[in-house]
Amino acid sequence: MAASGSAIGLGNIWRFPFYVSDNGGAAFVFLYLVFVIIIGLPYMMAEFALGRHMHKNGVGAIAGIKPGSVWKVAGLLGIATGIGILSYYGVIAGWTFGYVFKTALTEIDTGFIAQAFGGPTEFGKFASNAGLVIPLFFLFMLITTVVVYFGVEGGIEKWSKILMPILLVLLVGLIIYSNTLEGSSEGLKFYLLPDFSEVTGGTVLAALSQAFFSLSLGMGLMITYGSYLSKREDILESTLFIGGFDSMIALMSGLIIFPALYALGATSAGGAELVFVVFPEIFAKIPGGAIVGTIFFVLLSVAALTSTISLLEVPTAYLVDEFKMNRKSIVWFVSLFIFIVGLPSALSAGASDFLTNFGLFPEYLVKDRDFLSQFGFIFGDLSLSLGALLISIFIGWIWGAGNASDELEIGSKNFKKFRKIWIFMIRFFIPIVVFLILLNIFNVFDFVF
Ligand code: TRP
Repeated sequence: MAASGSAIGLGNIWRFPFYVSDNGGAAFVFLYLVFVIIIGLPYMMAEFALGRHMHKNGVGAIAGIKPGSVWKVAGLLGIATGIGILSYYGVIAGWTFGYVFKTALTEIDTGFIAQAFGGPTEFGKFASNAGLVIPLFFLFMLITTVVVYFGVEGGIEKWSKILMPILLVLLVGLIIYSNTLEGSSEGLKFYLLPDFSEVTGGTVLAALSQAFFSLSLGMGLMITYGSYLSKREDILESTLFIGGFDSMIALMSGLIIFPALYALGATSAGGAELVFVVFPEIFAKIPGGAIVGTIFFVLLSVAALTSTISLLEVPTAYLVDEFKMNRKSIVWFVSLFIFIVGLPSALSAGASDFLTNFGLFPEYLVKDRDFLSQFGFIFGDLSLSLGALLISIFIGWIWGAGNASDELEIGSKNFKKFRKIWIFMIRFFIPIVVFLILLNIFNVFDFVF
């Protein structure tokens, strides 16, 4: 339950369509799904197995298997990645939370709120207002910290278990609505009919990293969550469930966004703002859309919260376990630090020209120039993929794929049948393919995968 809560979040509804639109559409969707199946899921099982075997967080589990070795770096990279991701994820979560009020109140209020937040479908005015997005970011970090401080993550997850089916129903309704709009079929084509001629090394890495990001993989988080699993739990089955559910939500989000995007003629929208433009456009058209929209952004905020909790958990658990620090006081420092790291991201959607047109990476790797997207590429794309590369080598070769398989067999009805293939995947296939994809951001290969 906690792992699904962590996996399902803004990655599915905000990041997935944003990456699809930046990376040429259906070919990206296809690659993403292939990577989820052949890399994401077998790799997730490896993280779970190590965690359950060692009863420790990522760094601790690695150090427990190979004390005093350089492999600890793989765990530490995960800590840095968690801090990096949360710093900009929290900004987007703040936008999401702000959109609850923007959607609910701008219809009623034409004064102060409308002034600050902009009209219901107006994005730029909202996101470039530093006096608004920074407090919202702060507020979201505060809520996350309070939940972790009081240790009530379990309660939030129970709530989200009740709320997620509502989100699902809402998404189904919106898919139907969006696809009955005139001109929507062009969007569906962009989303579902692949054109592989446009695929570059950057596209392939983006699809791989989307698989890792969406499943919360590559930074050892699922090692920590695995450590809470009992030996009766069937890891193979849980992994398939989490993966299936996670991809389904992402695919559904695309089925709403792209038909609506083309039908409503907002095709110029792209980048991180995509869903914050298209969803409100839809809500503006539906009768009673302000209510539907408000509910939607509340549910999305809850989904984001179960993910931010897991992201804050990683550096916090590390400091507590490793340096015996007091959990209750350290969590405030960690989260304040992350908030400060996130400030440039918060200012990069129009508030600061410099940060909005930040640049850094070539355009074929990151299409959007803003600081948040550039920074997101380092931590959400490069760093997660590198982390998964290191951790898969560690599990396949240092701990040993045989030991990992023995762990996976415990409590599992069907794993035996897949044991040989899983060992091949974790030792050879995953590290080699991830390595080649990382290498190919320099466009070393002319061919595409
Ligand atoms: N998977 C989450 C999402 O899709 C984001 C997330 C939470 C994450 N924890 C993570 C991503 C750990 C990578 C690693 O929104």
